[in-house]
Amino acid sequence: MNQRADLDTLGTPSPVHPTAPGQDAQAEARRVAQGQRVGVSRAHESAHLHVAGEATYTDDIPELAGTLYAALGLSREPHARITTLQLEAVRAQPGVVAVYTAADIPGVNDVGPIVKGDDPILADGVVHYVGQPVFLVIARSVEAARRAAALARQPEVVAYEPLPPLLTAMAAHAAGRYVIPPLHLKRESAPGALPRALARAPHRLQGRFEVGGQEQFYLEGQIAYARPLEDRGVLVQCSTQHPTEMQHAVAHALGLHAHHVRVECRRMGGGFGGKESQSALFACLAAMAAVKLGRAVKLRVDRDDDFLITGRRHGFHYEYDVAHDDEGRVLAAEVTMVSNAGFSADLSGPVMTRALCHFDNAYWLHEVAVHGYAARTNTQSNTAFRGFGGPQGAIAIEQILDSIARRLGRDPLDVRRLNFYAPEGQTTPYGQRVDDNLLHDLVARLEQRSEYRARREAVAAFNARNPVLKKGLALTPVKFGISFNVPHLNQAGALVHVYNDGSILVNHGGTEMGQGLNTKVAQVVAHELGVHFERVRCSATDTDKVANTSATAASTGSDLNGKAAQDAARQIRERLAAFAARRFEVDVGAVRFANDEVQIGSTTLPFAELVAAAYVARVQLWSDGFYATPKIHWDPKTLTGHPFYYFAYGAAVAEVVVDTLTGEARTLRADVLYDAGRSLNPAVDIGQVEGAFIQGMGWLTMEELWWHPTSGRLMTHAPSTYKIPTANDVPPVFNVQLFDADNREDSIHRSKAVGEPPLLLPFSVFFAIRDAISAVGHHRVDPPLRAPATAEAILTAIEAVRGAA
Ligand code: MTE
Ligand code: MOS
Repeated sequence: MNQRADLDTLGTPSPVHPTAPGQDAQAEARRVAQGQRVGVSRAHESAHLHVAGEATYTDDIPELAGTLYAALGLSREPHARITTLQLEAVRAQPGVVAVYTAADIPGVNDVGPIVKGDDPILADGVVHYVGQPVFLVIARSVEAARRAAALARQPEVVAYEPLPPLLTAMAAHAAGRYVIPPLHLKRESAPGALPRALARAPHRLQGRFEVGGQEQFYLEGQIAYARPLEDRGVLVQCSTQHPTEMQHAVAHALGLHAHHVRVECRRMGGGFGGKESQSALFACLAAMAAVKLGRAVKLRVDRDDDFLITGRRHGFHYEYDVAHDDEGRVLAAEVTMVSNAGFSADLSGPVMTRALCHFDNAYWLHEVAVHGYAARTNTQSNTAFRGFGGPQGAIAIEQILDSIARRLGRDPLDVRRLNFYAPEGQTTPYGQRVDDNLLHDLVARLEQRSEYRARREAVAAFNARNPVLKKGLALTPVKFGISFNVPHLNQAGALVHVYNDGSILVNHGGTEMGQGLNTKVAQVVAHELGVHFERVRCSATDTDKVANTSATAASTGSDLNGKAAQDAARQIRERLAAFAARRFEVDVGAVRFANDEVQIGSTTLPFAELVAAAYVARVQLWSDGFYATPKIHWDPKTLTGHPFYYFAYGAAVAEVVVDTLTGEARTLRADVLYDAGRSLNPAVDIGQVEGAFIQGMGWLTMEELWWHPTSGRLMTHAPSTYKIPTANDVPPVFNVQLFDADNREDSIHRSKAVGEPPLLLPFSVFFAIRDAISAVGHHRVDPPLRAPATAEAILTAIEAVRGAA
C-alpha cells in the first residue's frame, strides 16, 4: 500500500493563505477608520520591490569601473599546523591581481566580537576547522578568483602537519576544552536544598537529550563590497545585522580609527543571527583588499563556502536529574547543558547565558541548578540564530515535563499547566519576577479554540484503528525574555528629516532583514507627525548617520529604534506646533496633527504647507532621537538581575501523523496564539510568527548537520544534502492569531517583540511526534527521540519503543 498517498490524504489543505483573521480584526478596522498609523496592517515597505526583483541587495549595487573580485582559499584539515604556504602558483593564475595571507593584515588579525584574539580573519600558522579561510585571492572576475582559490586543495600550495582534532561537543567536554569558563545558574530555597530534594524525591527522572544545530540559510549569502575613500577612508557596503561592529572590526583589522570607516546596509536577504558577528570576516577582507589596491573589491561567497566558513545555531546535549511529585509538579531540577561552540568563542557565551535563562520557560522551579559548558571543537564557530540559545534552553524543560507526563500517564498539557508560573507572580531562577504571566489565559483560549480535548480523543480513536499510521498531538507554551542580556546594548538612535516639501526621511540604527523593521519605524514616525504612511521613507542603515548602534538582534529592533524614531519625530512635531501656535496666535494645545493635516485652532493646513512656512521662518525641521531601555540590570558574575524589560508569551498546538514503517512525519494542523502586545502591524507580525514557526519546525524535524567523523568536513553543506522546509511543509491547516493585550510596560505603543519568540512555538510539532511514537507502545514507554526528528531518528525511537513495550 502506498503510505505516501495515505499521508497526503490526511488534513484538509486550504486553497488560499491559511491564516485565519485575528479576533482583533474589528479593533484594527476601527483604528484604520480613525486614521491611525500604528496598530494597522501595512504591506512591507519594500514589498513592491521584493516582488518585482527591484529591491537592491548588496550584489545589486551598480559596480564601479575597475571593480575586482575576491575568493577564499580554505583549509582542508580540521586541526593542523600549516607547514607550506606556496602561493606563487595561485598568483600565476590568469586574471589574478593579488593574493593575501594573515601576514598582509595591517592591523589585528581578529574578529572576535567578545573574547578578543581567538577569531583570526585568515589562519595564522594553525588551522582550526575544515573550511577556515587561509588566503584571499583578488582577481578580475569572480570565476578567475574562485578558480585560483580552489588551488588551496593542492598539497604543493598548502601542506599541513595534522594535530589531534576534537570533532564533537561531547569529546571536547570530556577533554575539558571550552571557549569560555563554565556558567552556573543556581537557585535554592536553602543551602543544600537541591541535592536534598533530589535524594528524597517521590519520583526521580534522570535522562539525556540532544538537539542539533541549524544553518541560517539566509537567501542572500555573506557579501561585502568595499571601496577606498580619500585620506585612508573606506566604505563597506555589506549584508550585516551590525554595521557598527563591522565598522569597528574593519578599523581594527586595518589599523584605522572608526571615523575612517563607513559601513552601509540597505537591506539583507535574511540574517537570522548569521550576520550579527560573522559578516565581519567578509567586510574586513574586502576592505583590506580595497585599501591596498586602491580599487573597489567585492567578496561574495557561494553557498557551499558560506556553509563551510561560517557557523550557525549551536547543537546542545543535556543531562538532567529531576524530582517530581505524583501529579507531575517539578520539585527540583539539575541540568547540564553542553553546546558545540566550534573553534572560537564568537557569541557562544551570551548564547549559553540566554539558554540558562530560558530553561525555566513558562515554569516555576523550586530548586534548580543549570550548568552551561560551551565546548571548543574543531568545527565552524557557532553563533547567533533566531532565539539565541533561548530555544535550546527551553526545549530541555519541555522534554523533562513531557517525560514526566508519560511516566505518570497524564496528559502532558495538564502537567505543563500545573507547573506554570502563578498568575500572581513568582521569581525566575535568575531573580527577575514574572508578574505579567498571560499564559493561563492564553493557553486556556488556545486549548478551547483548537478543540484540544476533542482532538485528543479523536487522535486516540485514530490510533486504535490504525496499526501503521499514528497521530500525535501536543500543546507547548513559550515565555521569552525581551532585551539584550548585556544592559548597555539596549540603546538606539534615529535621525528624522522633514524636507521643506513636506516629505520625510527616517534613518535609524536598526537593519532591515525582511522582518519589517523599517515598515514599523515608518509607521511610528507617520503616527507621531499625523501624516500618511507614504510621506515617510526609510534610508539605508549607515554608520555615518547614526553612531554606536547595537546589532539588530534579540528581537529588540522595533522596541529600540521605534522609540528612538518616535523621540526624533516628537521633537519636530513640538517645534512645528510651537511655530504654528505663534503664527496663528493660538495655544500650543490647540494644534493637532492628524490625517496629513494640521489643525491650528479654527484653521486647518495641509502638513506640507505648514512645513514650508516653518522652513521660511527658520525652524529646524530635522532631529535626532535616542532611547535607552529602562529598568534593566544584570550581574554577569552571579547570573542574576532583571535582564529583560518584559516577557513575550505564546502557545501552539500541533497535530502530526507518523508513518511507522518509513519514519516520515507530517504536520497536519497547527494553531498558534502569540502575544505581540498591541501589535504595531498585525500583518507583519503574523508573517513573523508563521515564518518563525516553520523555521523552528525545520530545526526540530528535518535540518540535520553532519560532520564526517574522521575528516571533520561538514558533509551537509548545500541544499542537496541539507534540507530546509518548503511551502509543502506548511501545515495544511495553519491558524495563527495574535493575543491582543497591551504590553504592561511602556514599550513602543505597548507592542511586544515578535522576531524570535515564535521560533519556540513548533516545540509542539516535536512533542506531537513524540506523542505519535509513544502511541506505538500504547503510551507505556517514553520514546527516546532526538532532535531533529528526521525519518531516521523517528524509526530509531519507534524501534526502541517496540523493543521496550
Ligand atoms: N525575519 C526575516 N524575514 N528575516 C530575518 O533575517 N531575523 C530574525 C527575526 N525575523 C529575521 C526575521 C532574528 S534572528 C531577529 S533577532 C529579529 O528578526 C531581528 O529583528 P527585530 O528585532 O526587528 O524583530
Ligand atoms: Mo537574532 S539571533 O538575535 O539576530
